Amino acid sequence: MGGSRSHWEDVYTAKSETAVSWYQPHSVRSLELIEQAAPDRGAAVIDVGGGASTLIDDLIGRGFSDLTVLDIAPSALERSKARLGKDAAKVVWIASDITRWTPTRTWDVWHDRAVFHFLTEKAQQDAYIAALTAATRPGATAIVATFALDGPENCSRLAVQRYSPETLACRLGPAFALTGQARETHRTPWGSEQRFSYAALRRR
Ligand SMILES: C[S@@+](CC[C@H](N)C(=O)[O-])C[C@H]1O[C@@H](n2cnc3c(N)ncnc32)[C@H](O)[C@@H]1O
Repeated sequence: MGGSRSHWEDVYTAKSETAVSWYQPHSVRSLELIEQAAPDRGAAVIDVGGGASTLIDDLIGRGFSDLTVLDIAPSALERSKARLGKDAAKVVWIASDITRWTPTRTWDVWHDRAVFHFLTEKAQQDAYIAALTAATRPGATAIVATFALDGPENCSRLAVQRYSPETLACRLGPAFALTGQARETHRTPWGSEQRFSYAALRRR
């Protein structure tokens, strides 16, 4: 049913940011899809469940100027802030559970790698979709990466719901049209493989 704040705080307290299974030195596939969706560096981008990912470093490095990272685990955000140093001030940091969050503005690009798939209950998924819908306007792009249909059944001691781009689009509903997709075989720090499915969806 998705982990609590204390679950994720424990994960980030127990392991360094490079020792978690989902660690990537660079979020290559995400960067490609974000740059396709938003060639304009003034586009507003939010990384939902961004954790301690270096995606934000690379977006700053590419000149994006309206950046937000949201995560349920404050300690993950603190790690990213410490890593970024003075560049941390270029980002809006939000410590919140996405299923209980009410956005106060909208973004052009919503990015989520490996968060929605932890929501295995319909009510939580509906709350996420309500936040996504409130945080975007028609023409915005949602980039959502989950474990693929042939990916792992759990992560971080939690069950996950696996998707293809098509089944994800179906779950997000008619307000989101599938416009792009990619697959990735992620190699964990200990060498095992995890198949991810990426979907780019345009808000109608
Ligand atoms: C598997 S990690 C992925 C982190 C990052 N997106 C990446 O690709 O490196 C999942 C992240 O989602 C966060 N998370 C889990 N449930 C969440 C929720 N309900 N609301 C916001 N963040 C959540 C966790 O704290 C964690 O940082």
